[in-house]
Amino acid sequence: MIAETRLTKDMFIYPYFVVPGQGVTHAIEAMPGINHFSTDTLLKDVEKGLKLGVNKVMLFGVGDEKSEDAHAAYDPHALVPTTVKELKRHFGADLYVVTDVCVCSYTTHGHCGIMANDEVANDASVDLIAKMALNHAQAGADMLAPSDMMDGRIAAIRAKLDGAGQENVAIMSHATKFASSYYGPFREAADCAPNKGDRKSYQMDFRNGTEALREALLDENEGADVLMVKPGLAYLDIIAKLKQHTHLPIACYNVSGEYSMIKAAAQKGWIDEQKVVMETMHAFARAGASIITTYHIRDMVENNWI
Ligand code: PBG
Ligand code: ZN
Repeated sequence: MIAETRLTKDMFIYPYFVVPGQGVTHAIEAMPGINHFSTDTLLKDVEKGLKLGVNKVMLFGVGDEKSEDAHAAYDPHALVPTTVKELKRHFGADLYVVTDVCVCSYTTHGHCGIMANDEVANDASVDLIAKMALNHAQAGADMLAPSDMMDGRIAAIRAKLDGAGQENVAIMSHATKFASSYYGPFREAADCAPNKGDRKSYQMDFRNGTEALREALLDENEGADVLMVKPGLAYLDIIAKLKQHTHLPIACYNVSGEYSMIKAAAQKGWIDEQKVVMETMHAFARAGASIITTYHIRDMVENNWI
């Protein structure tokens, strides 16, 4: 009765990695229980999840053509828009579809923007990212989750969407995304590791909490509908602080490394997976997140932990 924090299934978003082909279910080794799916097998898996109450998904496309200018990122025939259309055709409004908007799986160098003179070119990248966002919106995505961290992209995406009659599509900004080593396993999942340099010129410095607030509030002013903090566990202070400064919903992204650490320790019998997962999820909510993106949600619903 006096519990201050309660979790419900409708707070959770489950990430998917869609790859080319048919009938593909390929285990991602660094993330036990998570697979690469082709569109057809993904649809079947989503249907299973939906029956158990997982009604929000986030899509990452892996395996489209890579190029210097990342043109596949805004190709309406690329994996993500094609899969969004199929999901919407099958599940309609029963399924809430979020797409990751970033070009690192579409650039030959693996950076989250396009390069000029050996540096990531912010403004040129923003144009590209806005085009990618519109491409996903036109395919039927309910919400776009830009994870690139270029400056000014939220305003650019909002303007692009509104200009094309997509004003009802929401934006969940990866507002404070830290340059984190907890993304390690994801690099295998999304094939997007930079082949040179790191992401520190656009992602946040983990020593900085005040700058994180500044970044998040810029995105709020630019028109974001939800502010996301990423990763989750090492950044609970950022969630809690942000909660004091915004009236927007706060999301957190419980990332690949956080997931795989729990999975690995549980497989060894060193921790109780159910108890640790549920303690972790409550911590996110207690800190102030009302939306949680996590790879654990399928285990949680399949085993009746929630
Ligand atoms: C890239 C991206 C990353 C993640 C989501 N989008 C990795 C990175 O920035 O290097 C990480 C997600 C996870 O680890 O689960 N735009
Ligand atoms: Zn990226």
